[in-house]
Amino acid sequence: MKEVAVRGVRKSFGGLRVLDGVDLTIPAGSFTGILGASGSGKTTLLRIIAGFERLDRGEVKLGDEVVDGRRVFVPSEHRRIGYVPQEGALFPHLSVGRNVAFGLRRGPHRRARVLELLDMVGLAGLQRRYPHQLSGGQQQRVALARALATDPEIVLLDEPFSSLDASMRAEVRAEVLDVLRQAGTTSILVTHDQDEALSMADHVAVLRHGVIAQLDTPAGIYRRPLDPALARFLGESNVLHAPVTPASGATDPNVLTADTPLGSLAVEGWPATAGAGPAHVLIRPEQILLGEPGTAPLDATVESYQYFGHDAVVRVRPDGDRLPELVVRVTGGTPLVAGARVGLTVQGSVVAWPIADGEDGHGRTHEGRHDGRHGDGPGGSRTNTDPEEAAGPSEPDAERLTNSGRKTPP
Ligand SMILES: Nc1ncnc2c1ncn2[C@@H]1O[C@H](COP(=O)(O)OP(=O)(O)O)[C@@H](O)[C@H]1O
Ligand SMILES: [Mg+2]
Repeated sequence: MKEVAVRGVRKSFGGLRVLDGVDLTIPAGSFTGILGASGSGKTTLLRIIAGFERLDRGEVKLGDEVVDGRRVFVPSEHRRIGYVPQEGALFPHLSVGRNVAFGLRRGPHRRARVLELLDMVGLAGLQRRYPHQLSGGQQQRVALARALATDPEIVLLDEPFSSLDASMRAEVRAEVLDVLRQAGTTSILVTHDQDEALSMADHVAVLRHGVIAQLDTPAGIYRRPLDPALARFLGESNVLHAPVTPASGATDPNVLTADTPLGSLAVEGWPATAGAGPAHVLIRPEQILLGEPGTAPLDATVESYQYFGHDAVVRVRPDGDRLPELVVRVTGGTPLVAGARVGLTVQGSVVAWPIADGEDGHGRTHEGRHDGRHGDGPGGSRTNTDPEEAAGPSEPDAERLTNSGRKTPP
């Protein structure tokens, strides 16, 4: 088990600066998720940590050892790292056993080690099969077994589940997590899928505009995103504009509420230095309860109802013109039809961010640089309630570009 420390890492390709000073410490033995849009530099960062790519500036330390930095470069084969690359990870012409054995020295223990590894990932007996004779989930587990073959202290996983069916993904994620916990490695998973990062990792770091924009526990990052763009990136969001004022009747002037058409909502995470004033207010879809019209702070009309089995997403148009369409997540209940009338109540406290002087009230200065160099928080921004922002920058089609013609050595 080793800590991984990334300090001020910069990397450009041609004129394109992909990493612009990445700072990140990954505790020994932890499972850390790095979440970023397609093209944000996730693979580049992993390849630098693995030693497949050199950094331009900064430093990477594994435990106490600098492995990449000024005048230092430890080749990848001396870093005790296991790497599970994005799709296409297995050699199609080699059997499962040979795929797993690939990095192992020849010798009397090689075969036993392969069988042990296949057993560990739940594939005992499949060593003679070929990759095409396995399901996607089994292939991923072979890739994991191969990465673990040389007893790595650090395992890097590059979007390992993106090619799996949704039905299989949760199961394979849990199995992989289990194997890595048992192996006791320090693990880093990069993904553009916020569900994956939030459900698997002890800590989640968001890579945006070439830097780590936020690092927190999954709950912390979901509950208290640093800005509206991160909120959208981390899940469906309703971001409203409303004044934040000292709560009426409260003796403590630091107890604040956001005064929205949905009621006065308790605010958390308001900066101590900021006074009352206009704000972006985040209401997660699961915080809105639907009830009978006429009984809640605000009524609305159902625009659409999407059923997902475990829950459903309802889009509603609030009465009046002060609020845009809102997204609501409900569990169970009877399906709603478009045109149905409902009452909206918000439960729990909300996160709010001051609208800075000079900001146009639609979060532009919060959103960072729109210089087109990086995808801007797509992934999670399925909902956008700021009408002005609705036509956000489109997600670059980098995922495909990323993989083409760039095979990762196993
Ligand atoms: N070897 C390379 N040569 C040129 N450009 C590259 C290379 N590797 C990555 N890039 C570019 O760097 C950016 C980040 O790529 P990548 O790290 O693969 O992002 P992600 O894994 O987050 O999708 C993309 O614009 C990609 O095209
Ligand atoms: Mg990638």
